[in-house]
Amino acid sequence: MVTVNRQKSEVSSAPAKYHEPVQGTVFHGDGREEALLKHLQSLPDLSPESTAKLPLQERSQRVLNAIHEFGKGENRYLMSVGDTKGRQVESLVREKKPKLILELGTYVGYSGISFARHLLEIHPNSTYPGSWTEDITEDRAGYISLEKSEVYATTARGGFELAGVDKVIKVLVGSSTPNIKTLREKLNMPRPLKFDMVFLDHLKPLYTIDIKVLEEEGLVGPGTTLVADNVVKPGNPAYLSWVRATPAQKRQSLAAPRLTAQPPVTPNPAVEDWETAFCHGPIDETRWAPDEAEGFTAEGDPNLIYTSEMLDGWDPYTGEKDACEVSVCTGRD
Ligand SMILES: C[S@@+](CC[C@H](N)C(=O)[O-])C[C@H]1O[C@@H](n2cnc3c(N)ncnc32)[C@H](O)[C@@H]1O
Repeated sequence: MVTVNRQKSEVSSAPAKYHEPVQGTVFHGDGREEALLKHLQSLPDLSPESTAKLPLQERSQRVLNAIHEFGKGENRYLMSVGDTKGRQVESLVREKKPKLILELGTYVGYSGISFARHLLEIHPNSTYPGSWTEDITEDRAGYISLEKSEVYATTARGGFELAGVDKVIKVLVGSSTPNIKTLREKLNMPRPLKFDMVFLDHLKPLYTIDIKVLEEEGLVGPGTTLVADNVVKPGNPAYLSWVRATPAQKRQSLAAPRLTAQPPVTPNPAVEDWETAFCHGPIDETRWAPDEAEGFTAEGDPNLIYTSEMLDGWDPYTGEKDACEVSVCTGRD
């Protein structure tokens, strides 16, 4: 039996609504990301002269606030994790004290700034990505973020610099699945080094295959915490079924034929059905690899055991309910 927990948000009421729901409308890639960087660089409050002497939390918070304010403008909705979900993940980072964090989907860097700033405070004496060597015993900490768009990566890097977190973050530009396959080599991360935390926030149908590739590559495993955004809006039943299934259920799902076309999207089930809903149907959908996986397929490591719970929150601009799924890998069956 899968145990499904839900945790209420620390913030008890929905944030103000600045935009209508954006699904089906143009909500990124129309120049707003470049405009955001120019805007941030023009703000006197964020200039190096104004922020150089500020404590890191205050300096980085100024940048987060400025990004959020920008996103309230007309046609400026930003698909960031936002404040309510973001703060819960920040608490998790402070509690778990990860050294190596992987993010899938940088966008303009809101989540990167929110989470990576804690690495600098928790591990002040570690070596950060720009200076990693081949020495496997090196005490490394860092936030590796994969982003498909060069334009978004440029905006994010600009924000990281203003926030004072650039030295702890490395942004790799490219499509997630092939890049995860070669990540060990690229980052010079010999086995058994793995990520302590992974934040999944890129293309929703890629969550499942990418987590399976990470499992196969040994880049996640016992001790890793997975945090997946947007599991309510728009929802991701196939991914939830994988992290909530038992090893036996996952092994059984591997007997199902691999799907060659996108399965009909299963809506999230009613809350009262969640204890059993993810053990049927969607688990077989995890055998589909979307075109964006660029020909890669993966079976994952079905023997990994996760304890999974949902953290409730809201979209920062539309006020719609959303949540992050937090799955802690507790061992191997
Ligand atoms: C929801 S946004 C990320 C938001 C960001 N994590 C934050 O909270 O500030 C999703 C991002 O994933 C990127 N993306 C989409 N498909 C991708 C892929 N296959 N590989 C890497 N990044 C991808 C998009 O370009 C976009 O910037």
